[in-house]
Amino acid sequence: MNTMDLPRHIAVIMDGNGRWATKRHLPRFAGHRAGLEAARELATICVKKGIEVLTLFAFSSENWLRPTEEVSFLMDLFLTALEREADKLHQQNIQLRIIGERDRFDVKLQQQIKRVEALTAKNTGLKLNIAVNYGGRWDITEACKKLALEVEKGLLSSQDITPELVNQKMALSDLPPPDLFIRTSGEQRISNFMLWQFAYTELYFSEALWPDFNETELEKALAFFAGRERRFGYTSEQIREKQHA
Ligand code: IPE
Ligand code: IPE
Ligand code: MG
Repeated sequence: MNTMDLPRHIAVIMDGNGRWATKRHLPRFAGHRAGLEAARELATICVKKGIEVLTLFAFSSENWLRPTEEVSFLMDLFLTALEREADKLHQQNIQLRIIGERDRFDVKLQQQIKRVEALTAKNTGLKLNIAVNYGGRWDITEACKKLALEVEKGLLSSQDITPELVNQKMALSDLPPPDLFIRTSGEQRISNFMLWQFAYTELYFSEALWPDFNETELEKALAFFAGRERRFGYTSEQIREKQHA
C-alpha cells in the first residue's frame, strides 16, 4: 500500500470484550483482559507501520452505569496496565496521553496517569491517546466552558467565536483529526466518542470482537480507507484535478 493512502490518525472503539468472553463461557472481565492485549498489539503494529496517531476508546462517560464490580475491575486494569506498560511504551518511543474527565478517578490512578504522561511526553514516535471517562459531549461542553470563561473575563467577544476557535479548545486539537474510525463487534454507532473531531472521518465497522482484532483485521480497515475518495465538500472532479496539479 502506498504510504500516502495510510491514515495519519486512527480512532478506535474497542467493542465486544464482553461478548468475546461470554462466547467462551468466561466472565466479562476475562474479555477486558484479552482486550488490553489486543490494544497493546495494535499500538505495536501502528508503530511498525508508521501511523502517527492512535486514539483508543477504553471507557465512556456512560460506562459508569455498568455493574460496580465491572467498573472497579476496569479501573484496576487501567492502573495495572499503566504501571506495567509505561516502560515498554517509553522504549517504543510512544507518547501516551489520556483524554477524558479525570476527577472521578482514584487519586492513585490520577497520579499514575500524570507519571506516564510526563515520562513519555518528549517521545517522538506514535502518539497514543487513551480515552477514559471520555465523552464527545463532555469534550464539547468543556470547550464551551473554556470559551465562556474567556468571554466572562473580557478576553473574548462572543462574536469572535468561530469553529476554529472551538476546535482549539477540544481534546487533541494539536493533532490532525482522525482520518479513519474503526468500531469492532458489528455495532454501527458512535456511542458518544469524538463527536466534534469526526466531522470528516471515514467510518469502518468490523465484525470482529475486539480481542480478536489483529493485524489482518487492521489490514482490512486500511484497505477500506485506501479505497475511499475523501472529498471534504468538493466534487469528485475537483479532487482529481487537485491530485494531478
Ligand atoms: C468494550 O467491550 C469495552 C468497554 C466498553 C470497556 P464491552 O464490554 O462493551 O463488550 P460487549 O459490548 O459487552 O460485548
Ligand atoms: C463504547 O462501547 C465505549 C467503549 C468501547 C469504551 P459501549 O459498549 O459502551 O457502547 P454501547 O453502550 O453499546 O453503545
Ligand atoms: Mg460494548
